[in-house]
Amino acid sequence: MYLSREEERIYEGEKGWAYQVAMKILVKLGDLFNADRLIPIESAHISGVSYKTIGDASIDFIEALSRSEAKARVESTLNPAGIDYEHPEEMIGLLEIREKQDRIIRAYKSMGIKPILTCTPYYIKRPSEEAHLAWAESSTVMYANSVLHSWTNREGGPSALAAALIGKTPNYGVHRPENRRADVIVKVEAELKDEADYGALGIYVGRILRDEIPFLDGLRHPSESSLKHLGAAMASSGMASIFYYKTPYPKRSDKLEVIRVDADDMRRAYESLSTTSEKPDMVYIGCPHCSAEEIRNIAEKIKGRKVREDVKLWICTSRYVRERAAEHVRMIEVAGGKVLVDTCAVVTWIKELGVDVLMTNSAKTAFYAPTMNGVETIYASLDECIEASCSN
Ligand code: F3S
Repeated sequence: MYLSREEERIYEGEKGWAYQVAMKILVKLGDLFNADRLIPIESAHISGVSYKTIGDASIDFIEALSRSEAKARVESTLNPAGIDYEHPEEMIGLLEIREKQDRIIRAYKSMGIKPILTCTPYYIKRPSEEAHLAWAESSTVMYANSVLHSWTNREGGPSALAAALIGKTPNYGVHRPENRRADVIVKVEAELKDEADYGALGIYVGRILRDEIPFLDGLRHPSESSLKHLGAAMASSGMASIFYYKTPYPKRSDKLEVIRVDADDMRRAYESLSTTSEKPDMVYIGCPHCSAEEIRNIAEKIKGRKVREDVKLWICTSRYVRERAAEHVRMIEVAGGKVLVDTCAVVTWIKELGVDVLMTNSAKTAFYAPTMNGVETIYASLDECIEASCSN
């Protein structure tokens, strides 16, 4: 990969150890994927924030980078952590976990990275169309490429952090127009009623396509939150980082393979996301983190009802959205639900909170929770989730 004189100097270590490490990560990645050069990015979004998911070795690495006084060169933000700092009473109370999570966030902050602690940074600030980004967190990447028309590969935590420090990313993958063309048409013949249906579709499509780029034909006026659930699910079971749902769209060739998705395929996708028919002890909504619109919708459904004593109802979002949806948050909390921030059910310790059965309208959570959290799952619509969590 070609490096400018200044980039070479960083690579040689003239700007210090942290920038050198960051540049080496980017060059390694660029060489691996045949990038021709580094390109400037508008922003970076970094995953690998929860102590639950990254562990001790990563803390040492992030702290070592921060000690050498490296600073992000572009707007940079953080994915959710393992703790809701506003609702510590809802979290496991281990001091050691709290201290380690604090160290991670402190180290990122000292590098100038904003601790927004959400996987929906685009509700706080939308990236520009056609801007190159270095975003980690696969659901965020899908949304950026497919709904917001920005350009980002699926970064891992370390490569997004390296890109933040250098302000550039290697020019490969979907940063190049020729790699953003649809490979296959998916004709959606099943009726999609709500976000859970979009999530089930995403799981099905991700499983059969892996990293091929689909044009989803037959989506009727999907809401942005439906598209968010669709992309998050597709990125969980598959490797794609972009999908199309409107015409015109760029095609790999004039004759694309066509795949059909019918009601039976959807039923099988639903079945694969539920591991039990037991009653839930937690109902979880907010993966990816809720928009203000979703919070309002939940509040209207739950108004005048009471959350059961034996069920936790968690709704996760960012602090930014929580503040802006304050009135609807209050309606949910009066009913007994909790609107949490900074974290989510997957990246915190729900099993240790006594949760054995998790019900959710998020296909991504239902896909990961059995392995990442060791809980049984029930995948259901938002209405069914509200019904199961309320006693009246
Ligand atoms: Fe976000 Fe957690 Fe889901 S980080 S995408 S809410 S697993």
